[in-house]
Amino acid sequence: MSLLIKNGDIVTADARMTADIYCQGDTITRIGTDLEVPADTEVIDATGKFVFPGFIDPHVHIHLPFMGTVTKDSHTTGSQAALMGGTTTFIEMLAPNRNEDLLEGYRYWNDLARGHSACDYTFHIGVSKFDGTTEAQLRQIVADGMTSFKVFLSYKGFFGVNDEELFKALTLASELGVIVTAHCENDELVAQRQQQLLAAGNTGPEWHEPSRPERVEAEGTNHFATFLELTGARGYVVHLSCEPALDAAMAAKRRGVQLAIECVIPHLLLDKSYAEGPGFEGAKYVMSPPLRDKRNQKPLWDALAQGLIDTVGTDHAPFDFHGQKEMGRGDFTKIPNGIPAIEDRVRMLYTYGVSRGSLDLHRFVSAASTRAAQLFGLFPRKGTIAIGSDADLVVFDPDYRGTLKAANQTMNVDYRGFEGFEVDGRPDVVTVRGQVAVRQGEFVGDPTRGQLLRREPSPR
Ligand code: URP
Ligand code: ZN
Ligand code: ZN
Repeated sequence: MSLLIKNGDIVTADARMTADIYCQGDTITRIGTDLEVPADTEVIDATGKFVFPGFIDPHVHIHLPFMGTVTKDSHTTGSQAALMGGTTTFIEMLAPNRNEDLLEGYRYWNDLARGHSACDYTFHIGVSKFDGTTEAQLRQIVADGMTSFKVFLSYKGFFGVNDEELFKALTLASELGVIVTAHCENDELVAQRQQQLLAAGNTGPEWHEPSRPERVEAEGTNHFATFLELTGARGYVVHLSCEPALDAAMAAKRRGVQLAIECVIPHLLLDKSYAEGPGFEGAKYVMSPPLRDKRNQKPLWDALAQGLIDTVGTDHAPFDFHGQKEMGRGDFTKIPNGIPAIEDRVRMLYTYGVSRGSLDLHRFVSAASTRAAQLFGLFPRKGTIAIGSDADLVVFDPDYRGTLKAANQTMNVDYRGFEGFEVDGRPDVVTVRGQVAVRQGEFVGDPTRGQLLRREPSPR
């Protein structure tokens, strides 16, 4: 079956043209005006609409056993929610904890995803310890095409690594040409502050941010950068949330540390006042690093506009309010951390960045798709519109107007992080390797079409 997307306003990270895109099988095979096509071709008229490369979410938790519970989405619901929002590829954190075997975890996560994802996916490999077996196991997994690691400087005793383990993981990554993504918060500072706050009777969700203030993240970011500098590894700070951490990352980049920066859509648009909401409602907005004071948002948007922040992800981590977030009533340290967003990232970034803000349309495409493909070994198969690239395409109607509501979402969670937010535009048609998955706001695709994406390392 072939597909023609006709007369769209095609926008990539570095080009814009009005043209037709012809897709044969999985692949884009022709781009031009007034293309002639075989009789059995499905034609989608994109007149007056943007055509973007399929969006890539570089930071997703679909299956995350964490804080005594497990995220609510399955690969079925999470991938369909991604597609409804225009995300055609996600990178999930494969997250065995330090008491579990890494290779068994690798098989387990692959089994969960295989045959259950509607969109393509790949994994950052969670390195939660570095013992006698870790190096050989990581070599095997990298050889299988998973060429990015994930480390946590927080959550010690569970996902977190100590400094010796961090050094060893980065040294191996440097040798193998693997990029290391990192959650940067100083764990000891968090643990001490949590105890002080609880001892003083401060137990509600509003105390989550004060327990891990901006300096804690700046210290973690600087710590990670120093280890990158001394091991020569390539790094990527995930969910950078505040100006002091941005300053630490930029200082490292200025002295030559190979460091890319991700921010996530909750930090760009929500602030700590959400976690200070009435009663226990604020628990819906507990994530780490926490939602920050609003004054941090302008520096993040400015850095994004200038390309100093590379990517915008979600850190999608869907825990129900009822039954899951509620585990932390009376003790904010027990609220499962995370906000659902996989369905909302692209529309929120377009609406509040491009449509109502000053984010350049090409920067939008770069931050939401192209840069992630480049950093994580998926480009040019993903992240652009070019002959030979996968036919992952988003026909986006900029004139659509709507409001986000939990009642209408595909994400399998009982609230919506962006409840009540207006959105300008929506993905009208979304394709996964040439097959239509979303049409006019409905999932119409093959729930099992998604493939695991194997990637090449980038040796030094
Ligand atoms: O609060 C968050 N971010 N939850 C998911 C785990 C993580 O830290 O990425
Ligand atoms: Zn994190
Ligand atoms: Zn995360």
